[in-house]
Amino acid sequence: MRKLVLLISITALVWGLTSGQETPSLRDLATERGLFVGAAIQSEYLNESDYAETVAREFNMIATEWETKMDAIHISKGVFDFNRTDRMVNFAEENGMAVRGHTLIWHRQFPTWLDPNDYDRDEAIALMRDYIYTVVGRYQGRIQYWDVVNEAITDNGTFRTTPWYRMIGEEYVDLAFQFAHEADPDAVLFYNDFAAEAMNMKSDTIYNMVAGMLERGVPIHGVGLQAHLTLGTTRTGSNAAVDEVIENMTRLGELGLEVHITELDVKFSRGSDPRRQELQAVDYQNMFEACLAVDACTTIVTWGVTDKYTWIRSDQGIEDAAPLLFDENYQPKPAYFAVVDVLQNGS
Ligand code: XIL
Repeated sequence: MRKLVLLISITALVWGLTSGQETPSLRDLATERGLFVGAAIQSEYLNESDYAETVAREFNMIATEWETKMDAIHISKGVFDFNRTDRMVNFAEENGMAVRGHTLIWHRQFPTWLDPNDYDRDEAIALMRDYIYTVVGRYQGRIQYWDVVNEAITDNGTFRTTPWYRMIGEEYVDLAFQFAHEADPDAVLFYNDFAAEAMNMKSDTIYNMVAGMLERGVPIHGVGLQAHLTLGTTRTGSNAAVDEVIENMTRLGELGLEVHITELDVKFSRGSDPRRQELQAVDYQNMFEACLAVDACTTIVTWGVTDKYTWIRSDQGIEDAAPLLFDENYQPKPAYFAVVDVLQNGS
């Protein structure tokens, strides 16, 4: 039955596209559902008309993929460069889009000029406070959502020994959220991590960590599940099994937290099944259905716009990676139509 619905949806959509009839975009469908559907963007590509038009047409939210991280903004001691983030935030405002600021405190893209050994605990706390006040304060009211702390927990449920952990200790997480809230009391503040979508040791640790933060009165408002998936991992028993993702999102919602799927992409290994794009569509369908099934899940962001600029090609060196909704020529893929089907016909 579902394949029939999907076929009808694709046919209707293709007919609409070819007949010039206005067909609903992802943005239209998401907005109708009160959902944010976003994409991580890079400022340099906003100069490409196809890129800018696709983002503005298909998404009602942007995330800042790498240019709002500490090494890109805090370029030397006391020196900040906001040009690229300004470009992205201006674009979002010009197109009526929400913004997820990614990310304030992370162990990667940590400034090379900043030697943790140069700072005692109080100096490190002052450095963090100054940085967060400067960045969050600048975008007060313009960046509505922040990934305040990213990837603080390891796969086996321990604190990652990041530079911030080494300088300040576990309390760096609470302090980061406190400073972000002081800088913009209206911003919605998230803890963000990967491989913690389903029920596992890491997601249990994160659940217990954020529950403790709430008990201490720390201003945390949500958890981001990155969802960097590999083909088929949303199937039952896999590491992002959709039934367990729903269970995990539900328990986070019961804490009063919002849940965002923050960095969704679905990669496949070389030489995998020739039907891989259809299999990829199933994983995207599963994640969107999971989000729709849980009231606390309000947002799904794909980690990029077009396969042409995916980080999996640039950072992981997989030249033919095709993890996103649009191909190199900005053409919608089966995964796009699967998402449209969920948003049009899902529960
Ligand atoms: C990646 C970006 O996509 C790259 O452009 C950058 O070079 C490195 O960071 N988890 C995260 C993101 O939280 O910040 C990472 O983004 C991907 C993994």
